[in-house]
Amino acid sequence: MNILKKPSWYISENEVTPKEIFDKRRGFLKLGAASLVATSSVIELFAKESLPLKNLNYLEDKNPDKLELNSYEQITSYNNFYEFTTSKEGVKPLSKTLNTNSWDIIVDGLVEKEMIIRFDDLLKNFQLEERIYRFRCVEGWSMVVPWIGFKLSDFIKYVKPLSKAKYIRFETLFDDEMFPDQARGFFSTISYPYVEGLRLDEAMNDLTILAVGLYGSSMPKQNGAPIRLIVPWKYGFKSIKSIARVSFVEEEPLNSWQKENPREYGFYANVNPNVDHPRWSQKKERVLGKFFKQDTLMFNGYQKEVASLYANMDLKKYF
Ligand code: MTE
Repeated sequence: MNILKKPSWYISENEVTPKEIFDKRRGFLKLGAASLVATSSVIELFAKESLPLKNLNYLEDKNPDKLELNSYEQITSYNNFYEFTTSKEGVKPLSKTLNTNSWDIIVDGLVEKEMIIRFDDLLKNFQLEERIYRFRCVEGWSMVVPWIGFKLSDFIKYVKPLSKAKYIRFETLFDDEMFPDQARGFFSTISYPYVEGLRLDEAMNDLTILAVGLYGSSMPKQNGAPIRLIVPWKYGFKSIKSIARVSFVEEEPLNSWQKENPREYGFYANVNPNVDHPRWSQKKERVLGKFFKQDTLMFNGYQKEVASLYANMDLKKYF
């Protein structure tokens, strides 16, 4: 987020067209030549074609606030995933090297019993739900995503932390064959593995989920397959991707961005239009695909659900 140069091996997304999309486009062009189709339905057809088949069973979110969803294409083509590249458009083509077969998650620290859980087994234990959430990056862009996942609180009850545990700490996989920026060692953009953490009461909040998909199907690699955290009232960098280790600890974990630049990033990272980042105002945001900026909401619009977690805390100090 604070490094702007493009790495030398960056491949522009335009140069890489996945075969299936290429074939679909070719088929579509043939169709277009045979019949005249109104422009709007052409666009709709393209939008529908790029949606993968739903493969997850989940309780639907009725979207009571009528949030306008970003498209699958937008959500999966503009990503922050430093393990691959700092280029948002570059993540999708590079993320093919992420292998999520036989994915294990280590659970350790202050728990009744340390364990290693296979991702596929984990899924069998929890009720999947759709959660349509606003997602706000500290860089000033935002989107609305229909995530599929389960409550982090259910996971915590399942693994049974000890009463001494006050925080939960997450780590992304470290594997320098899958993640090119990890392979650069000393020259990596940030130090790895990527680490994030929450206070246990934040983790137990009903809004906090472990997401395993979006738009009804499994999580795309570029969005953090097979499993990632989603904390919708916090800036996007808290929502750690491709989780391989969950630890229960007594002390506040040092999260990656705070470690990289403690003046600019704190532990809490609650979305707050009244506290600016040293380089970016946080008052407004641009929704992906929209021209005009909109006002950023306190706690990203989830004040009712989470403000009580921070009662009596100076949010300028605990940023
Ligand atoms: N997790 C890992 N492991 N590596 C990252 O670089 N980037 C974070 C977060 N999780 C990041 C990560 C940032 S800065 C943001 S804004 C979101 O992921 C982006 O999520 P998205 O690509 O699904 O929009």
